[in-house]
Amino acid sequence: MRRKLVAGNWKMHGALKQNSALLAQITAEASGLFCEVAVCPPYPYLAQVQSLIQGSVLTLGAQSVSEHPSGAFTGEVSASMLADFGCRYVLVGHSERRALFGETDVVVAAKFEAAQKAGLVPILCVGETLGEREAGDTGFVVARQLSAVLDRVGVAAMVSAVVAYEPVWAIGTGVTASPAQAQEVHAAIRAQVAALDLGVAAGLRILYGGSVKPRNAMELFGQLDIDGGLIGGAALVADDFLAICLAAN
Ligand code: PGA
Repeated sequence: MRRKLVAGNWKMHGALKQNSALLAQITAEASGLFCEVAVCPPYPYLAQVQSLIQGSVLTLGAQSVSEHPSGAFTGEVSASMLADFGCRYVLVGHSERRALFGETDVVVAAKFEAAQKAGLVPILCVGETLGEREAGDTGFVVARQLSAVLDRVGVAAMVSAVVAYEPVWAIGTGVTASPAQAQEVHAAIRAQVAALDLGVAAGLRILYGGSVKPRNAMELFGQLDIDGGLIGGAALVADDFLAICLAAN
């Protein structure tokens, strides 16, 4: 039985006052949940969020990480720094990082490895663009993104990792993949891992992301291979995020 995970990706949103109000409500109302709940604030708020969620059921994650352990990389943040601030998770390969910051499959795989070396659990984001879906390339693109990581770290590394399928056309658009569309890709991801190791595949949590809202969360999370969600916009509204967590419960 895979324990469901709901992770909030705040993207470049937040402010000290706003964060504390948001988390006051979430930590109070999430206390009885069985599913795991994580929040991924921007770097400067990690320390604040770390202290605000102390003693609650929430866990902490970051949105990106350097592939380098330390050194002359101005503006970058290493995995050990994230671990220092109590992060358990870190997103790698979010589509915005791939599209806007030039992160290739190779770089994403290096970040994945760097995260694990520091004891973090990477949440590997994969997903196709609308053009790729319309061209019938969804399976190929997602398999390629996953292979880049499997080739680098080996299938055993997936024991301490999470995968998030996020169709790019569904992120922040209000258009979500149908439960059947999402399930199809999730099953293909699990099958790709199962071809290398059945046990690892059976335990691997695969999240769905892309316009998850309270109204569609339950049906998505009810699919056989959907083990929770990566939530963007709705993670900034306490009532919505909590309703999504409840749907995963
Ligand atoms: P969204 O974002 O829920 O706002 O579509 C999801 C994500 O980018 O992780």
